[in-house]
Amino acid sequence: MTVTITLNGIRRTGEVQPDTSLYTFLRQQGCLSVKCGCETSNCGLCTVHLDGRPVLSCSVPAFRADGHEVTTLEGVQKEAEEFGAFLADEGGEQCGFCSPGFILSVLAMARELENPTDDQIKEYLAGNLCRCTGYQSQLRAIKKWLAARKEGDK
Ligand code: FES
Ligand code: FES
Repeated sequence: MTVTITLNGIRRTGEVQPDTSLYTFLRQQGCLSVKCGCETSNCGLCTVHLDGRPVLSCSVPAFRADGHEVTTLEGVQKEAEEFGAFLADEGGEQCGFCSPGFILSVLAMARELENPTDDQIKEYLAGNLCRCTGYQSQLRAIKKWLAARKEGDK
């Protein structure tokens, strides 16, 4: 079957099988930032945005994305770099395997929640494993980045 999506702002079409995952389709489309850690909805590594909301692409059939907008790390490079600088400053940067999904979840959270509490941040990101650098450094980075964004909006 044919699937057409708007991928990072560009219309893309491809052939998929009924059981092709969105994760596989995105990799076929050249989005190599999208990683797979478990294929069972447990690690969050494969997180992408589907119509602006975070989804686990390993668990979404590619055909479900037909006609929809998909965003991967390749499509949010400027925001990702800005947030990445805060992570690095706090010693919270992660490896290239788990970072893309984590960053996409953080960006989605920033759009969804206004002034999130620590508990809300932790809850929102609970599905993103691993955090080899620990949770506290990331929490500090997220809060400082959110505050800086807010300041920039004034
Ligand atoms: S690869 Fe999708 S949740 Fe782990
Ligand atoms: S798996 Fe990426 S830092 Fe732990």
